[in-house]
Amino acid sequence: MKHSQKPVIAIDGTFASGKGTLAKKLATHFGYAYLDTGKLYRAVAARALAAKTDLTNGPQLAKLAMLIEPEELEHPKLKSGRVGAAASKVAVHTQVRVALKAYQVEFARNPPKKIAGAVLDGRDIGTVICPNADVKLYIDAKPEVRAQRRHKELLSYGEDISLAQVLADLVERDLRDQSREQAPLKPAANAHLLDTTNLSIDAAFLQAKTLILAVLKLS
Ligand code: C5P
Repeated sequence: MKHSQKPVIAIDGTFASGKGTLAKKLATHFGYAYLDTGKLYRAVAARALAAKTDLTNGPQLAKLAMLIEPEELEHPKLKSGRVGAAASKVAVHTQVRVALKAYQVEFARNPPKKIAGAVLDGRDIGTVICPNADVKLYIDAKPEVRAQRRHKELLSYGEDISLAQVLADLVERDLRDQSREQAPLKPAANAHLLDTTNLSIDAAFLQAKTLILAVLKLS
């Protein structure tokens, strides 16, 4: 028996795998609420960088995590490479993860009244935050392809960085996310794997949509 009354779609995956774009498209298509959980960790990192908090100080970072307001999640500065890299350092701390968990669980359990379900994307949604999610997807792609996508995105934000540097940062970030003790990035046992290396956004969306329709028995 599932706990969720409204369908919950959990999307996890590696950095720049396309999971965010896919999650947003699916949420729009199904009319579900959407939460990019990476933004929570980025918001803590942005606060920590601004306050010059030591990124190894879990208890202090957890205090910052408890101050995060939903409006903060929309700030454009969260998109930068510097904040993203700091977010993955912040995310290794159990205290930070605990501080951010209730908000995510509540978002999944109780989407606003008229909204029919929820889509959350991150690293531990199917494994830790929503272990009973109705559909779990794990998105990945070859590192070189992900680096190209991210490089393009960073250039569009005006960042001056080489493709080689983006690839090196990405490999380092994946390794940190996958090897941390708390909630490491990995596919949930019952996740559907989607490799987007050779898929356009539209093709990935179509595959995911077809799967979700089948699992939720919708048409
Ligand atoms: O997805 P995004 O790049 O915005 O995430 C930034 C960092 O936040 C990730 O590299 C990861 O370390 C952390 N994160 C996490 N758990 C999540 C979402 C993000 O640990 N559910």
